[in-house]
Amino acid sequence: MEEQLKELKKEALEEIATVSDFNQLEAARIKYLGRKGKLTAFLRTLGNLPASERPRLGRLANQIKEEIEKALQEASLKTQKIASELKGKKDLIDVTQPGLREPLGHLHLVTQAIFEIERIFSQLGFYRVRYPEVETDWYAFESLNMPPNHPARDEWETFFITPQIVLTPHTSSGQVREMEKGKLPIKMINLSKCYRRQSDVSHLPMFHQFEGLYIDKKVSITQLKGVFDYFAHEFFGPERKIRLRPFHFRFTEPSFEVDIDCSLCKGRGCRFCKAGWVELGGAGMVHPEVLRAGGINPEEYSGFAFGWGVERVYMMRSHLKLPDIRLIYKNDLRFLKQF
Ligand code: DAH
Repeated sequence: MEEQLKELKKEALEEIATVSDFNQLEAARIKYLGRKGKLTAFLRTLGNLPASERPRLGRLANQIKEEIEKALQEASLKTQKIASELKGKKDLIDVTQPGLREPLGHLHLVTQAIFEIERIFSQLGFYRVRYPEVETDWYAFESLNMPPNHPARDEWETFFITPQIVLTPHTSSGQVREMEKGKLPIKMINLSKCYRRQSDVSHLPMFHQFEGLYIDKKVSITQLKGVFDYFAHEFFGPERKIRLRPFHFRFTEPSFEVDIDCSLCKGRGCRFCKAGWVELGGAGMVHPEVLRAGGINPEEYSGFAFGWGVERVYMMRSHLKLPDIRLIYKNDLRFLKQF
């Protein structure tokens, strides 16, 4: 019995000597002095001992208990000291430590696309312009050969401020405004916001278009095709092909829709594109009536124009199959950080 007690004391004091934090200290206390602790268990069995042994072993056990308590107290002071030293270290200011950087954002994906489109056309000598987002009926429709009540206007789901004032429904509104500056030749890219009364998974009430207008003497369809080829190779990749498909717009004659070969199936035809081509946007040779509206003599000058959607071409390039195009303007960082 006595040997066991001495063993217990040795074990306890050795363990307590290695304690370095409050959790270990508490664990040691419970292990020896807790309700189910080793020494407590021994004290409980004292009653079973022969009466001759009881007083001596009882005294010894109590003595050991006191020693363990004392050791625990010392260990407690030690752990407090360690803890406050650690805290002291934390509170110290290291003046040589580099500062914390503020998180740095980046340009919105549409701004990135706009800058790139601007760069590509500037290499061909096109300069960027911007025209009002609130526009008169004249520039938005009438000057573009769409007289009042003409059914073609229905294609532009227009926001009306008053019967004569609209939110610019397309960048084509900038064509006659540019002509009115009176400088020829014209080689503009009007890259601006447009508004239409549409909001669903594939339409935004506010979006961007880029409108090219080239007016000079003897401008031809061949040049139009050359400019589109250049843009397609720069923006989508050198292996891509475009084609012109006859169409009808009131402000161009002839008019085309411009398609680019589908990058997923390489023009063979797949579920995404159906027939191997996907539509980029509209284009054509500027209608003589539009030139006249801008004060330019159609006998002397000719030109081509095109108007395509920024969000649309960007999504076509990156194969973004957004479940909802409105995500682009939701300002959700989890989405925006990916671009
Ligand atoms: N403005 C037309 C639209 O928003 C696109 C367009 C078609 C622009 C033909 C043009 C053009 O300059 O020639 O749908």
